[in-house]
Amino acid sequence: MADLDSSLLCSFLAAGNQPVSGDRLAKELGVSRVAIWNRLERLRNARFVFEASTRKGYVMKSVPTEIYPALVEAHLLRLKFKPKFEFLAEVDSTNSEAERRLASGQTAPFVVLARLQNSGRGRLGRKWHSSHTGNLYLSLAFRPLIAPERLKPFTLWMGLALCAHLEKTLGIRLGLKWPNDLLAPDGRKVAGMLTEARMDSDRVRECVFGLGLNITTQREDFPEDLRYLASSLVQISLTPLEINQIAAEILQALWLAWEDYESGTWQKSFRTFWERYDVLTGKVVKVGLLGEPKEGVVQGINDEGALLLRSPAGLTQVISSGEVTLRKD
Ligand code: BTN
Repeated sequence: MADLDSSLLCSFLAAGNQPVSGDRLAKELGVSRVAIWNRLERLRNARFVFEASTRKGYVMKSVPTEIYPALVEAHLLRLKFKPKFEFLAEVDSTNSEAERRLASGQTAPFVVLARLQNSGRGRLGRKWHSSHTGNLYLSLAFRPLIAPERLKPFTLWMGLALCAHLEKTLGIRLGLKWPNDLLAPDGRKVAGMLTEARMDSDRVRECVFGLGLNITTQREDFPEDLRYLASSLVQISLTPLEINQIAAEILQALWLAWEDYESGTWQKSFRTFWERYDVLTGKVVKVGLLGEPKEGVVQGINDEGALLLRSPAGLTQVISSGEVTLRKD
């Protein structure tokens, strides 16, 4: 059974602007009116605002601007979706935490969600700036029943599924920059994905998919070196966004995207999504990682998710990992 706070918040979400009486809440949730009153006081201390109108009841007027786990749970209840998620106010890295939990035998799949990370990790050993509480730091952990080579286009698929979800729910169209960045229309980075897996020769043992998504960070809240490189959903939408609702919906979308991946149904939508959200095809880029950086025009990707790059000499090179820089014309 859901915890009392999340059931209570779920009733307020369902009521919208209509007042809900303490009596009704007490009956619906099977507790006393005093218990409801106590919970409301506690929630008020956590920066929820409830307006009381005599005889009619309470309206939830505003909610905290950072992740509040019972509110995420309440949104999940409304979505009738019950993934296993673990919340931490602060952690080193949600990916590291998920890896530790998998190593200790925790049943998967599960999600780790944090309000802050003090050692958020990016690709290629970079740091992921994670000190703003209005952003999403989450990891999904699986023990997938798939062969190692089937994991290759996974991060691309998760990114595409997220782009499709954000466009459908918020009307925000991000672009996917191979292999793991989600970009705003002005080219600044809004999200990064980090997939880490432990595998043996015939199957993937454990896999963690990490997502860092900037939701409500304003430009001046980013450190100076990131201000012109990073963006957030709120900077694109220019309207207030509720992080707890967005977190719950994304959690559901990513979970379902994973299920599609494991069952193979992702292949039905992959190309359509790729054509809609990829931002590299036709662009002149430089790809670096190990060895000499390669320059060329992006031709798209192959079935394994590797980047196809046509060199100035007209040769098509297949690049399975690397860091892409767009040439500024
Ligand atoms: C990148 O763009 O380099 C990938 C960034 C991935 C950041 C996320 S935040 C949640 C999860 N935990 C981490 O330590 N990293 C990922």
